[in-house]
Amino acid sequence: MNIDGQAWRTIWLEPDGRSVGVIDQTQLPHRFTTRTLSSCGQAADAIRTMVVRGAPLIGVTGAYGLMLALQADPGDGALAAAFEQLDATRPTAINLRWALERVRDRVAPLPPAQRAEAAKREAALIADDDVAMCEAIGDHGLTLFQQLAAARPAARQEQPFHVLTHCNAGWLATVDWGTALAPVYKAHRAGLNIHVWVDETRPRNQGASLTAFELGREGVPHTVIVDNAGGHLMQHGQVDAVIVGTDRTTRTGDVCNKIGTYLKALAAHDNGVPFYVALPASTIDWSVADGVAEIPIEARSASEVTQIQGALVELDRPVAQAMLGSMATVQLSPNGSAGFNPAFDVTPARLVSALITERGVCEASEAGLQGLYNGA
Ligand code: MRU
Repeated sequence: MNIDGQAWRTIWLEPDGRSVGVIDQTQLPHRFTTRTLSSCGQAADAIRTMVVRGAPLIGVTGAYGLMLALQADPGDGALAAAFEQLDATRPTAINLRWALERVRDRVAPLPPAQRAEAAKREAALIADDDVAMCEAIGDHGLTLFQQLAAARPAARQEQPFHVLTHCNAGWLATVDWGTALAPVYKAHRAGLNIHVWVDETRPRNQGASLTAFELGREGVPHTVIVDNAGGHLMQHGQVDAVIVGTDRTTRTGDVCNKIGTYLKALAAHDNGVPFYVALPASTIDWSVADGVAEIPIEARSASEVTQIQGALVELDRPVAQAMLGSMATVQLSPNGSAGFNPAFDVTPARLVSALITERGVCEASEAGLQGLYNGA
């Protein structure tokens, strides 16, 4: 997607052919900077600290992380250790394990001397596949949006088609295009009058910082709202559809996504607003049937709840001009108050109107997914 007219992916092989470049998402939207990852440890740190985040992107970063490990030591022991190190970084998104297994299974049968090059090829393939899957999700979602927009009452036809999204499931969460935002970009480019309500998505504010950033750079009309505003907007007919991504989808169609997604699904259900979940095949965990009972939910630091980060705009005392715009962390809660920070929740399939995949749109159910993937 575009930043100031230049096309970017979120991850790339550097010109040296050995190291990996990524956009540093901890600095967005205030600073657009990139980082070079030169070792497996650096790749693992980038995933853990959310320099890169979003289920598909952490999968691709993990794949390149194995390549980096094999450049240093292509032996069986190092391969196993790197797999463990990367797999332990974030537990919820299944894309990470899926991508690590894909690279490991590709390189393990090879002589050690060939493994790093083979891992590089496989990681690049995973990245390219992700772009293709996300673009196809965009095409299927576009058709759906066009149908929904056209089916609105005549009095609403002149209004923008209002979509609400939670967290960031845009191109920054993938390699390019995004999952939930791919249909938005396709619709905008196709001339649909679309507007996006962007949930801020506490505690890390992926909506307010990342989704707003990328929609803005693509020129898509959008408005940032607090997480608690969505239900009110739905009650007042100001949301035509909700669309979100998922970090792990069960074979029965439950979806695990950023904390707060479940509440949006409940509000959508109560107000008759369609609730869509966009996903590539790499997000489906065919081994899991009950998302609430079986998906491990990442618990992150309480400090993400009790504190908040942003760019400095004002202090309660005179501040040197040079300090304005600096990245700042401020405390919200009283010292000593405990915080609890589950990073994801599960929305049961019964609250999901449909799944939008690279293979088409299906019911959020075992039969629906089987119909598209035949258990693949
Ligand atoms: O904690 P994050 O920022 O990695 O969480 C990301 C999400 O929850 C996305 O919605 C999800 O990965 C789907 S992305 C295409």
